[in-house]
Amino acid sequence: MPLENPFQDPLRFDRRAPECAVVIFGATGDLTKRKLMPALYRLAYDRRLAAGFAVLGVSRSPLSDGEFRARMLEAVKQFSDGAGFDEDVWNAFAQGLYYTGGDINDPALYPCLRDKLAEVEQARHTGGNVLFYLSTQPSQYARAALGIGAAGLNKGEGWRRLIVEKPFGHDLASARELSRQLHQVFDEAEVYRIDHYLGKETVQNILAFRFGNGIFEPLWNRRYVNHVQITAAESIGVEGRGGYYQEAGALADMIQNHLLQVMATIAMEPSASFRANSVRDERSKLLRSIHAMTPDEIRGNAVPGQYGPARIGSEDVPGFRQEPGVNPQSPTETYAAVAFCVENWRWAGVPFYVRTGKRLPKRVTEIAIQFNPAPLAIFGGEGGELSPNLLILRIQPEEGISLKFLSKRPGAGMQLRPVSMDFNYGASFGERSPSAYETLLLDAIIGDATLYTRQDMVEASWAVVEPIQNVWRQTKFDFPNYPAGTWGPAAADEMLARRGHAWRKP
Ligand code: BG6
Repeated sequence: MPLENPFQDPLRFDRRAPECAVVIFGATGDLTKRKLMPALYRLAYDRRLAAGFAVLGVSRSPLSDGEFRARMLEAVKQFSDGAGFDEDVWNAFAQGLYYTGGDINDPALYPCLRDKLAEVEQARHTGGNVLFYLSTQPSQYARAALGIGAAGLNKGEGWRRLIVEKPFGHDLASARELSRQLHQVFDEAEVYRIDHYLGKETVQNILAFRFGNGIFEPLWNRRYVNHVQITAAESIGVEGRGGYYQEAGALADMIQNHLLQVMATIAMEPSASFRANSVRDERSKLLRSIHAMTPDEIRGNAVPGQYGPARIGSEDVPGFRQEPGVNPQSPTETYAAVAFCVENWRWAGVPFYVRTGKRLPKRVTEIAIQFNPAPLAIFGGEGGELSPNLLILRIQPEEGISLKFLSKRPGAGMQLRPVSMDFNYGASFGERSPSAYETLLLDAIIGDATLYTRQDMVEASWAVVEPIQNVWRQTKFDFPNYPAGTWGPAAADEMLARRGHAWRKP
């Protein structure tokens, strides 16, 4: 029996995958090279994979199995994050790597794939279990799924699952259409929509922090929480992904998926049990209770930005419109800040400020929960400005949790100063955390969908993001409106200042 859920399993790190074949479409692409193959190799290194394990790569380039193995070896060496490399583990793992060349759009690919898969299954004893991974252009998802279906590969002796990467559509209607097409071939329970943020240890730890401890939950509501800030700042630009990015923009690239999922994890109600659907039902309910704003509300509560050129240190950094593959007049936002409201009893009236951007001063993702100030400032002038209590959950880097509170400065008089109580992953556990893709791939092979998003969540997120996208598309903004290397447009500061708040400088 596959385990339903990671959190019910006291030996989560002793989980092992059953035998299976992983079929990766887009096997010569960037994601396979940077994330998937290093993660699978690391699972092998940690002895989490069954002896009956194989990967069948599918892509356009005509490669032999041997050439594919050689490429993947390079990728694993280059992109394994300090995980070390073991020749023997690699050799055993590499024997299970196979490849089929062909065009996803060509119906002739799928019968070849069926034959090759049968060969692989026989050679590797994978028990007929197959996990398909679509790591291709989104425009090819439906074709790949239909091809799999036409060749009868969606049914068989063992289980079948399909992992799909974001974007899940570019608006609500296209997200629904994508699901409709996938459902022609796979049941919803077989479709695993990956959001790698949910696989991050620090995001999983939000649940442990909230529901494994008794002291925080009573404070976790509008009576004590003043507002919440969720920041995902990146110092990099669009890194050669200009073409994709100018279609997507920051709102669809980060907020519609990763950051709304993080917000749902912070704000959801306790789950009755830690079964996959129980946790996902709560996340989904939360997403559905986020207020979908009217165009007027959007103008006051959502700010887009686009970076312009700047000199950072000794480097001249191009603006977004000067990046390769980007239209020199592109109206796409590389920064987005939104003030969301959650319409339920727990959160009514508490703003959730969410912001993300490229080319900000540093890479940091964190959630800052600001509590209401003490009701009476009895330390008066001597105490100085009373700064509010802050709980900071740092997702990356320097993963950890800090609680900021005021303390008396040693010495005469009553001078107060904010101090910090810190938990740091590295210092506390002293061991490497698995990457998000290791966690999520293992979960999908085990059949545990807790950390995957579901169609209803995707739709709920689009329902709040699409109206913003529509207003932004119809408005001409004066872009660029922030120089590369700064904290975004002034309008985002003003949006908070109007409510007496200010963005934290992480
Ligand atoms: C991806 C986005 O989903 O997440 C990228 O498409 C972004 O634009 C990336 O850079 C951020 O992920 P992480 O794990 O580095 O925070």
